[in-house]
Amino acid sequence: MSHILLVTSSPRGAESLSSRFATDIAEGIQSRLGGSLTVRDLTVNPPPHITSAYIEGRTASPDDRTPEQVEAVKVAQHFVDELKAADVIVLGSGMINFGLPTQLKAWFDHVTWPRVTFGYGDTGPKGLLTGKKVYLVTASGGVFSEGAWAPFDFQTNYLLHLLGFIGLTDVEVVRVEGTVLGPDAVNAAIADAETTIAALLTKAA
Ligand SMILES: Cc1cc2nc3c(=O)[nH]c(=O)nc-3n(C[C@H](O)[C@H](O)[C@H](O)COP(=O)(O)O)c2cc1C
Repeated sequence: MSHILLVTSSPRGAESLSSRFATDIAEGIQSRLGGSLTVRDLTVNPPPHITSAYIEGRTASPDDRTPEQVEAVKVAQHFVDELKAADVIVLGSGMINFGLPTQLKAWFDHVTWPRVTFGYGDTGPKGLLTGKKVYLVTASGGVFSEGAWAPFDFQTNYLLHLLGFIGLTDVEVVRVEGTVLGPDAVNAAIADAETTIAALLTKAA
């Protein structure tokens, strides 16, 4: 049985396609494989921006932390504990100004933690969160998987890099693209995502 962590981050609430399809994947895996599901909606409880209390506190010995550092590190520790407990992580991200929502960036700023989620080996940085399966759903108004806008995809490629940096390298990507190109494009993007997700769920079962 798996423990699944679902992380959603779109500020568009019920309209969000990345949250919708990430939820479909998480619930689909749970109904096939059983196990438990933790839902972390980063827009309901947004992580704070990181501060010097967090940056200094996270590398200080726990006994030496100031009360402010203890509180700041507690936030990050909670997110990292959720990640460590998960066998399967499902992440939803809707493009904002060519990148990821700031809520999700703030979450990565907390979970990308030296000597906790990544270390430095003889050959450079080494991710420490290994052996987990990740499903990444990215939505965007334009099309970035190919064509003229591909060089400006600072969402999916960046997320793949961030995930890989902390050891999460086994990633299936579902793109929901072209959502501002009119109703036909939206319907096609939704149909594509549904087909991709159905195939991924069959593979997961
Ligand atoms: C504030 C804002 C900024 C956006 N910026 C971009 C952008 O830079 N490029 C783009 O292709 N789409 C952009 N979009 C469109 C969203 O990426 C699109 O609506 C996508 O479906 C959002 O993901 P979601 O459905 O999960 O909320 C933006 C939307 C909003 C609300």
